[in-house]
Amino acid sequence: MPDYKTIQDLGLKGKRVLVRLDLNVPIKDGKIADYTRIDACLKTITYLVNNKAKTILMSHLGRPDGEKDPELSLKPVADSLSDKLSVKVKIAPDCIGQEVEEMVNNMKEENIILLENLRFHSGEEANDPEFVNRLARLADVYINDAFATAHRAHASTYGVPLKLFKENKDIAAGFLMDEELRTWKPILGAKGTGVAIIGGAKLKEKMKAVKELSKSFDRIIIGGVVANVFMKAAGYDISDSKYMEEDKDYTDDAKAILKKCKNIILPSEVVIATTDFKEKGKADPKQGLEKGTIAADTIPSSEDTNAIKEAAKIVWFGPLGIYEKGFKEGSLMIAGVLAETKGHAVIGGGDLAAAAKGVKAQVSTGGGASIQYITKGKLEALEALKGNRL
Ligand code: 3PG
Repeated sequence: MPDYKTIQDLGLKGKRVLVRLDLNVPIKDGKIADYTRIDACLKTITYLVNNKAKTILMSHLGRPDGEKDPELSLKPVADSLSDKLSVKVKIAPDCIGQEVEEMVNNMKEENIILLENLRFHSGEEANDPEFVNRLARLADVYINDAFATAHRAHASTYGVPLKLFKENKDIAAGFLMDEELRTWKPILGAKGTGVAIIGGAKLKEKMKAVKELSKSFDRIIIGGVVANVFMKAAGYDISDSKYMEEDKDYTDDAKAILKKCKNIILPSEVVIATTDFKEKGKADPKQGLEKGTIAADTIPSSEDTNAIKEAAKIVWFGPLGIYEKGFKEGSLMIAGVLAETKGHAVIGGGDLAAAAKGVKAQVSTGGGASIQYITKGKLEALEALKGNRL
């Protein structure tokens, strides 16, 4: 039995149910580029409609820093939800304010409204009490289904549920939140050897992940841009390979981590390519990359694959190569070995969903939230759902 309530424990008919989702999806030229997070929350919304709730959805999109930015409007997400649910999902002009309150108060059972991007107001990330009050006013019941944002103590994930809890209103986890917590729980409790595979390009969160996971996992296999930074820090000549994010150079961080953590495995083989992604074969990166080339994929060694096969717990965040440009060999090798492992394996982040098809591992929608949960065992939004202030 979980120590929090779930959506199925609540009476919902006719209630104004305020639902925090993570609809932070990639949008390019007004078009949604990946639907994983939208698809993942359909079960909760459908349940609410079937149970005759008045459903008020809310989410952030990107990081507009408290400013209204039309590029980061949730309107395309409302349209996509309408299509997928075959029910009209109305986009509100804002997430708080009189007009929104009127819209909510005029709702009928089975209606769905999506509030505009919460982060158009600085009060969201600041967990500002007045912003909390204005959001909480919209709710009889609160559901959190935004596992991927559960490591944020923001108004919609932390302040609002705590306020409603104090007012004796019902607060609970949605289906996705509950499933995600159940997916990761065995990793928290697993005894025995642990292997973490960390690739991809989001350096800010991945550098933290390498550092944190190296404390509780025996072997850290790195790939992608993450590996490039560590190879550079170790003195390898990585030629034109990417090793920065948003102009921030992480080489010094990587040097400090390498000094402290002895279980980080530098790649022994990479696929090299020209800067316009034409493959040029494989190389040992220790020998230095040819001028004008990049490391486009990381190939796990037989020690790596054996360690995965023997491990009791395996977590995997981010592809080992430039997946979207076809450099998939390293990631597909990992996926293949996961099929043979005896251990409990979880893949974090939607970007690996394709590689993970048919693999004996659970796939999570959470990146940063998952890493925090398995390293610290706590999530701000989960504590709030239990009525606990941090
Ligand atoms: C994510 O994409 O990891 C979540 O939506 C959280 O977004 P954030 O890192 O901007 O808080």
